[in-house]
Amino acid sequence: MGRYAGTRSVVVGGTHGMGRAVVEELLAGGSEVLLTGRSEANVAAARERLGATAHVVRSDVADLAAIDALATLVDDTLGEIDFLHVNVGVAEVQPFEQVTEAVYDRMFEVNAKGAFFTAQRLSPMIRHGGAVVFTTAVTNAVGSSTMSVYSGTKAAVRGFASVLAAEFLPRNIRVNTVAPGFVDTPTMGFADATAEERAGLIAVGDQITPMRRHGTMAEVARAVLFLGFDATFTTGVELPVDGGLGHILAA
Ligand SMILES: NC(=O)c1ccc[n+]([C@@H]2O[C@H](COP(=O)([O-])OP(=O)(O)OC[C@H]3O[C@@H](n4cnc5c(N)ncnc54)[C@H](OP(=O)(O)O)[C@@H]3O)[C@@H](O)[C@H]2O)c1
Repeated sequence: MGRYAGTRSVVVGGTHGMGRAVVEELLAGGSEVLLTGRSEANVAAARERLGATAHVVRSDVADLAAIDALATLVDDTLGEIDFLHVNVGVAEVQPFEQVTEAVYDRMFEVNAKGAFFTAQRLSPMIRHGGAVVFTTAVTNAVGSSTMSVYSGTKAAVRGFASVLAAEFLPRNIRVNTVAPGFVDTPTMGFADATAEERAGLIAVGDQITPMRRHGTMAEVARAVLFLGFDATFTTGVELPVDGGLGHILAA
């Protein structure tokens, strides 16, 4: 019997990267999983890969009507859910002086507003005793040049999660966040990163992370699932998965 047998999970932003790693662990453990992504191509690839083992849904968190449609679909397909993972996030880097309104709005729309209303609209389906895990970032612990807007979005998610943890206490639903540092994913969290930019990010991560390496998607997935299923006396916290980047100075 799998670790997650009999459970139902939703992973928003689960077609690739860390979300995909969470989906794969959940499926391997026997959870019934509904996962989403925005881009047609990544959704199609996930459908092809997973076949009938999961419900793969195209849904854009920047569109409130799409979030409402997703909530209806989750209700119809899974009914009550045990675990909601709001993983979706995009990053763009710009020096503070050059930040444009369009970039600001786009990132807040997806990372902050999208995460907020996803949790709000799907919350009626979360069962008593269930759990929510958001993905934030190491930027909540340390100021990182060129990431002012992204950092603002992830700080907002951290704030939402704290209050949600308090408001969900009567339903015994735990709410926590995972804050990754440099983690090797197909995009490194940057939507349109070229292979060269991605390699550059990994190299920087390996250099500045106190543990002198980047993290893996599996390491983040384990932290997400720990908070989602194992940490039954933990709510309202942010768990760093960053090789010490936000917390210690390397000698
Ligand atoms: N990688 C890192 O080093 C790093 C570090 C710190 C924090 N993070 C955070 O960790 C999370 C995952 O990062 P990752 O590197 O694994 O990212 P990723 O590989 O780019 O995956 C992001 C997932 O979110 C989906 N998504 C993006 N925009 C969406 C939208 N508007 N509506 C619905 N789904 C959308 C993507 O689907 P589509 O492909 O279909 O768009 C994909 O499934 C993000 O929140 C990111 O900010 C990443």
